[in-house]
Amino acid sequence: ENEPLILGIETSCDETGVGIVRGQTLLADAIASSVEEHARFGGVVPEVASRAHLEAMVPTIRRACETAGIKPTDVDAVAVTSGPGLAGALLVGVAAAKGLALSLEKPLYGVNHLAAHVAVDTLEHGDLPKGCVAMLVSGGHSSLLAVEDITDGVLPMGSTIDDAAGEAFDKVARVLGLPFPGGPYIDKAARDGGDRLYVKFPRGLTSQRDLERHRFDFSFSGLKTAVARWVEAKRRDGEDVPVNHVAAAFQEAVCDVLTRKAIDACKDRGYEHLLIGGGVAANSRLRAMAEERCAEAGIAVRVPRPGLCTDNGAMVAALGSELVRAGKAPSPLDLPADSSMPI
Ligand code: KG4
Ligand code: ZN
Repeated sequence: ENEPLILGIETSCDETGVGIVRGQTLLADAIASSVEEHARFGGVVPEVASRAHLEAMVPTIRRACETAGIKPTDVDAVAVTSGPGLAGALLVGVAAAKGLALSLEKPLYGVNHLAAHVAVDTLEHGDLPKGCVAMLVSGGHSSLLAVEDITDGVLPMGSTIDDAAGEAFDKVARVLGLPFPGGPYIDKAARDGGDRLYVKFPRGLTSQRDLERHRFDFSFSGLKTAVARWVEAKRRDGEDVPVNHVAAAFQEAVCDVLTRKAIDACKDRGYEHLLIGGGVAANSRLRAMAEERCAEAGIAVRVPRPGLCTDNGAMVAALGSELVRAGKAPSPLDLPADSSMPI
């Protein structure tokens, strides 16, 4: 093949990811995670994440190259997440990418983390549709984005005004005594006989009044508090907490709001495609509900496989590849890391 070979580096949160793609073909996706080091704190500790990236960076680049069967000198361009994310964590990846680009004398592409979450789908389903809504739901973000052409960036339509969807999963899991990160455990508890209709938990920002100002925004903090109160009341009364039912009912509230607003966003833009990404896209109920409701609305759903939905280097390489293929200009070598990068 004579498609360009792109190496992508991701360090915006707690995963050190290095992906290698040729065109839209994934050759390697090496990852080192510091998630276990953060588990006992119940959340990601920025300082711990930065140090872990520094230690894992070069070994992870080596591992990716070995898997892809290439030498670093074969690489045609280096892509890196330059924001948004944890400042210190981003700096490690950006510095590594610059060093690599400089020594290889190859172009550097700084990319937006959220746009990369969208672009990763090209590795599984090929070219993105002309015009789609992307819903990104993870521990750090919950956004609805309009995407015309991913190489021109993404347009924010709405986002959470408090907790991210994944954060709500993690906090509710903690209340229920499930391990961190809680999303997969809630998913599993709900599947193990959980009754989705056991309690009707609140759907944030869906009242007529809220929709006027926050049509495409989310709020999960009230839901989390409602679940915590419900569980506390049961415990106070000395009753058993039906973990599976509470998990299922909570998950139902999150998925109901996410899918409703995502479909409304597609209708607003006149798009017939919805792309779902981020760690929460791995949720089995979200996938099923999105498929069902989108089918009714005549919208096609694209969800990359779970391994591509969570933070990784492949998504950065995928976006880098799209930029190179579209003939976009590279970034300067004094590219800053921008922790609060606008989308
Ligand atoms: O994208 P990601 O790996 O990292 C960032 O937060 O950027 O997403 C991790 C989040 C965590 O909050 C985790 O609990 C959630 O995704 N998650 C899930 C599932 N798998 C991971 N949430 C619900 N259901 C799942 N199956
Ligand atoms: Zn992410």
